[in-house]
Amino acid sequence: MSDHVEVLPTTATADNGVLRKRIVEVGSGKGLFLCRYAKMYPEHEIIGLELAKKYAEMSHAKLTKMGHQHACCLAVDACRWMAEQNPDSFDEVHVYFPDPWWKKRHKKRRVLNEGMVKNIERTLKPGGELHFWTDVLEYFESTLELLAEHTKLIGPEFVPETPPENDMDYRTHFERRTRLNQLPVYRSLFRKV
Ligand SMILES: C[S@@+](CC[C@H](N)C(=O)[O-])C[C@H]1O[C@@H](n2cnc3c(N)ncnc32)[C@H](O)[C@@H]1O
Repeated sequence: MSDHVEVLPTTATADNGVLRKRIVEVGSGKGLFLCRYAKMYPEHEIIGLELAKKYAEMSHAKLTKMGHQHACCLAVDACRWMAEQNPDSFDEVHVYFPDPWWKKRHKKRRVLNEGMVKNIERTLKPGGELHFWTDVLEYFESTLELLAEHTKLIGPEFVPETPPENDMDYRTHFERRTRLNQLPVYRSLFRKV
């Protein structure tokens, strides 16, 4: 697995002429989102960013086994990686159930920090979307404050919960686990104007 990803022109189109979106997931974990999105959107480029090498390699191997050459999972620190990307590069950035780092002195380790939200805004194309879901109300509220204070992203838009159509019909493994435990999920969608 390489930590390099070819940067496509931002207006690239797939073979069928459909706009090829560039979709990034921060903290892919075991890769459910990557595998489902790769299957649903074969025309788009889907990039997972995962700090834990074991999980990144596992997700990348699953994508390869499924024949999804338009998707990959990179073993990188997403904060560093996003800081190195060009402005207006991505159509969608997805962040699901990031590690909460409960203790006050550890909160600076959160992946959604001031620098990261600024880099998400900078690297989103105009009209691009940030999807942020968590089961931790305090993380949800403080991130919404961070976004309001440090970015001009428009939101949060309400994201309704949808009933699963099968046992794996969830955005990520953490969403599945949270909902099977009948705990709340806080969902938000932001857009870059
Ligand atoms: C709580 S898990 C959630 C995984 C997945 N998003 C889900 O909802 O099932 C958070 C994941 O983010 C990864 N992570 C934490 N900090 C990261 C960083 N700076 N860059 C990339 N991944 C990170 C962790 O290794 C872990 O796999």
